Amino acid sequence: MEKFVITGGKPLHGEVTISGAKNAAVGILPATILAADVCVIENLPDISDVAVSLKILSTLGASIKMLNRNTYEIDTTHLNSTNVPDDLSRQMRASYYFLGALLSRFGKAQVAMPGGCNLGPRPIDQHLKVFSALGAEDSVDYGMITVRTKQELTGAHIFFDKVSVGATMNGMLSAVMAQGQTILENCAKEPHVVDLANFLNMCGADVRGAGTDVIKVRGVEKMHGCTYSIIPDQIEAGTYMIAAAATGGDVVINNIIPTHLEAISAKLMESGAHVVDGDDGREFFMRVSCENRPRAVNIKTLPYPGFPTDLQQPMMALLATAEGNSFIMENIFENRFNHVPELAKMGASISISSRTATVEGVEKLYGAPLCASDLRAGAALVIAALAAEGESTISQIHFIDRGYEFLEQKLRALGADIM
Ligand code: UD1
Repeated sequence: MEKFVITGGKPLHGEVTISGAKNAAVGILPATILAADVCVIENLPDISDVAVSLKILSTLGASIKMLNRNTYEIDTTHLNSTNVPDDLSRQMRASYYFLGALLSRFGKAQVAMPGGCNLGPRPIDQHLKVFSALGAEDSVDYGMITVRTKQELTGAHIFFDKVSVGATMNGMLSAVMAQGQTILENCAKEPHVVDLANFLNMCGADVRGAGTDVIKVRGVEKMHGCTYSIIPDQIEAGTYMIAAAATGGDVVINNIIPTHLEAISAKLMESGAHVVDGDDGREFFMRVSCENRPRAVNIKTLPYPGFPTDLQQPMMALLATAEGNSFIMENIFENRFNHVPELAKMGASISISSRTATVEGVEKLYGAPLCASDLRAGAALVIAALAAEGESTISQIHFIDRGYEFLEQKLRALGADIM
């Protein structure tokens, strides 16, 4: 069983380069199905969710060539199946994007109920609402979701009941080749929503408004391949920013888009860290340093541009040793506090009431045997272990491999003692 062994207490120093965005990659890879042609996707992070997405494409009949570690040529001209094998769909949440993409191109799709992190109930009613509005029927039997349509999909006006990243992206995927115009309202505005829209437009789609509440999709008859480079991962960047501050370090984070990081930058500055963004003429960077013990801050997770739920857990690791009491309200997922009992093993003082965690900052955390329960809980434990005194072991790191490219190597290059 693989695990990390981290000896904490060493401030991180140096430079780190951010990889391609996981949540954009896992939407864009299924979207290559719509091109029915050759696409070259660059800046794909080398993480297990991408490997699973590529495996699914390959089992559907796509021909895939690795051009280098982060660039793949994907030819979806001759697909021979619309059924995603259930063992693969259950390995990640994003397998639901294959429903929208396959339905759009072939009028049918079958995918097992998606897996992914256990953060409480994660319904997909808003995804099914779009498919049905466009004219498809769905059924869910024995954990298998089937969507199919007898006629061509037809554009519709859909108002989402909830702001959902997945449903917004599936809305675009399923509407790009429908007849007429689709209007999606109350959309998610995350950077990966915009990245998917940009990719679809490069393939000949007509998607407007991504990044705002209303997205308009005018159906096109046919799409084609393109070469596309995925945006940098805002959550990976945020994780290194928090790690720099939590260890009292000084880190330059390269290959970022500063506007994607405004919520996390603001909270880190409020807690006493120095955060400066810049442009070296080639790419943007962010420099984060912190000399003193962080101050307590309050956090409410919200859809973009609010504070991202994916950074709530890493931020709690930093606030565990802040001066004063922090209140952290998790508004997106019902149960995203699985990391709290692990932080408590290290000496953190955190109590949970419904969706709010009260973090009473302690002076120090101490190394302990820890277990990652999900992807971002794993990132939180890594940060806590880097800041703590003594040795920690973190098991179940396969969760962390789902979303962080070369975490161990990148941290080691920053001076961390991680094996
Ligand atoms: C995506 C991200 C995940 C991130 C989350 C919120 C991917 C692969 N994953 O997850 O990393 O934490 O956005 O930024 O991109 N909901 C419904 N019905 C639906 C869909 C969602 O009630 O049909 C609810 C969810 O239970 C949750 C909220 O809406 O409470 C937001 O979920 P959503 O934005 O859809 O998250 P995911 O797409 O699953």
